[in-house]
Amino acid sequence: MHAQTATQAFFDPITWTVTYVVWDKASRHAAVIDPVLDYDFKSGHTHTGSADRVLAYVQENRLQLDWILETHAHADHLSGAQYLQQRIGGRIAIGEHIRDVQTVFSRMFNFERSFMPDGKQFDHLFKDGETFMIGGVEATALLVPGHTPADMAYRVEGAVFVGDTLFMPDVGTARADFPGGDAHQLYRSIHRILQLPPQTVIYVCHDYPPASREPEWQTTVAEQRARNIHVRDGIGEDEFVAMRTARDSALEMPTLILPSIQVNVRAGQMPPPDDNGIAYLRIPLNALPVRR
Ligand SMILES: [Fe+2]
Repeated sequence: MHAQTATQAFFDPITWTVTYVVWDKASRHAAVIDPVLDYDFKSGHTHTGSADRVLAYVQENRLQLDWILETHAHADHLSGAQYLQQRIGGRIAIGEHIRDVQTVFSRMFNFERSFMPDGKQFDHLFKDGETFMIGGVEATALLVPGHTPADMAYRVEGAVFVGDTLFMPDVGTARADFPGGDAHQLYRSIHRILQLPPQTVIYVCHDYPPASREPEWQTTVAEQRARNIHVRDGIGEDEFVAMRTARDSALEMPTLILPSIQVNVRAGQMPPPDDNGIAYLRIPLNALPVRR
């Protein structure tokens, strides 16, 4: 099925995130999807163990990095995009509606005046349906909002990297209660993915495995339609939205949402340092619109 491309996954057990490298076997040109920069909340230190594993894979396989693709501005980990780009290049890209996310959060965090919510911190902003090349392989960016207004999925050959939409069938779907999230939109975006051919391979962005199994990240459209606990065939939009809304109201915020968002809407760059040379992340008090 994957005649032209190879895909390698890297699972981060701290944030449950899956980073992918997908590459064209003929040209050895590659894309990295959703790289992680490790962050220790207690010490305020960043670490590069996760990104270094990706870096080593790219270098060992002598790949040329065309793209560093973000599916969205993640709320559970800092992006490793800048670290990877500085070492091995690649254009950092995300969906064009990141501007809406930047507008909301640059206000909440009261970013410096020079920050413009125009998406120009990224090298490229994808429109819905836009095609792009990974070496000689054509890929397509699909707008799949709902978890956030800017979520994208990336279709490459017979596979689709779905970001925070669907999770593994026994885990279900992404939450839709962050600022700008919308459970109705999420349902429709998921169904856009589920309309792809049944044999299409789905690579998920996170896995939160039950105690009975190890982490997994690869499934298919057919498996999701048959078994996904939230959106298998027969579950309608209203039923999904009622379930999703009730479930989200009981979820705590991700541990790293405040550090993550303010870095990730900057394409993974840290805020500019203060005049003492130290860069700071900010904690807005009682500003995140959540119940607890
Ligand atoms: Fe997310």
